[in-house]
Amino acid sequence: MTPPRKLHIKSYGCQMNVYDAQRMVDTLAGEGFVETAQAEEADLVILNTCHIREKASEKVYSELGRLRVAREEAARQGRDMKIAVAGCVAQAEGEEIIHRAPVVDVVVGPQSYHHLPQLLERASRDGKAIETEFPAADKFGFLPQPKPGAIRARGISAFVTVQEGCDKFCTFCVVPYTRGAEVSRPVDKIVDDVKRLTENGVRELTLIGQNVNAYHGEGPDGKSWPLGKLLQRLAEIPGIARLRYSTSHPRDVDDSLIEAHRDLASLMPFVHLPVQSGSDRMLAAMNRKHTVKDYRDVIERFRNVRQDIAFSSDFIVGFPGESAEDFSATLALVMQIGYAAAYSFKYSPRPGTPAADMRETVSTADMDERLARLQELIDSQQSAFNRAAIGTTVDVLFERPARNPGQIVGRTAWLQPAHVMASPDIIGQVMPVKIESLERYSLLGELAPAATRHRATPASNQISIGA
Ligand code: 5AD
Ligand code: SF4
Repeated sequence: MTPPRKLHIKSYGCQMNVYDAQRMVDTLAGEGFVETAQAEEADLVILNTCHIREKASEKVYSELGRLRVAREEAARQGRDMKIAVAGCVAQAEGEEIIHRAPVVDVVVGPQSYHHLPQLLERASRDGKAIETEFPAADKFGFLPQPKPGAIRARGISAFVTVQEGCDKFCTFCVVPYTRGAEVSRPVDKIVDDVKRLTENGVRELTLIGQNVNAYHGEGPDGKSWPLGKLLQRLAEIPGIARLRYSTSHPRDVDDSLIEAHRDLASLMPFVHLPVQSGSDRMLAAMNRKHTVKDYRDVIERFRNVRQDIAFSSDFIVGFPGESAEDFSATLALVMQIGYAAAYSFKYSPRPGTPAADMRETVSTADMDERLARLQELIDSQQSAFNRAAIGTTVDVLFERPARNPGQIVGRTAWLQPAHVMASPDIIGQVMPVKIESLERYSLLGELAPAATRHRATPASNQISIGA
């Protein structure tokens, strides 16, 4: 028997890339590849790249520089190391990548991962292989499902792509160009995937898509189903303890999603809802298709059905033309909403997007100053949110042993890590935890008295709120 070939895959950027990397591993498992954590010993290294900001995009080239050295060393030992660039930089730059980094053998866009085995073959034969088409066929139909062992090894929390691409065309964003138009997977296919995951120990599911709440997949009744209805269906699958979804656009929050938050105990009360700016003038220039008031109204609709709901968001500072007043309006919105967490970024012009041609740029000094002020405010909100947990009893889904011996770590409904001293038997279960203290971003506590402990059971769907 020939020994298995070794595959090292490194993902940058969003959760979609993490999921795609797993699909690539599953595809290549069929070709006799096994994963290794060491790039140096791999027969194939895949960089699964992100193009969202310049910094993310440039990382791939510094990594390729390091890989060139590793490949030379492998060659000295008589080993052939192939190098592939996948993901959104591959899609955006195509063969440009090979010009800039001749060490690359394969360039493969996000819609073509199911062709990886053929592309590797082509690279062995012809030297290089590039594929960055947007094929008409749904790649998901061609991607092999993970084996039970692989699902178990990945733990109790899994991502499932339900939607890909974006039709919103925010003026700063490359996603509509790198991931293409919105496509939703049919409900039945998603249900099959989820059953396979739950049968192999998965308890928490995050539905992912670039604009996940634009989901409009075909249901078993032949009609187009919104995300809320898909969530209702998935909550019925035995074994599902928690459902999440990411990332949503404020414009696409419909009644079905609000109703799902009202009706499903397993749908977690934590929503990532990027707003980008608190200034209507900037939102218009960004082509966000909503105003600050629209956003506040959407938040209100969620809060009306689920009082314990919390939000996170993304912000861009220094978008072209952003004045001191515009930025103050962002701070004011953050104060009004009160976030549990948020990400903020300096605007980075992306080639090919409309905003890249806008003239009124903001100085680096102003951007730095605004970012620091915004992050300070967000940090203080996040700390306050975490501190508020001290003294309360909250449900935690336990995931794995912690670094500290004897401790098990899980997450609260709001994704806060929570540590307790307990037996590893609790992994995979939802248990109430009395929170005692906070250490940086982690909560520390102890399991609540046995009488109130419960095993996570297949979702009992109804909860009553606001009665
Ligand atoms: N510059 C800075 N941040 C960006 N984002 C997207 N495009 C850019 C850009 N050109 C941010 C947005 C988005 C998040 C994923 O990345 O805030 O929500
Ligand atoms: Fe990019 Fe999100 Fe806007 Fe789509 S909605 S263009 S993914 S920022």
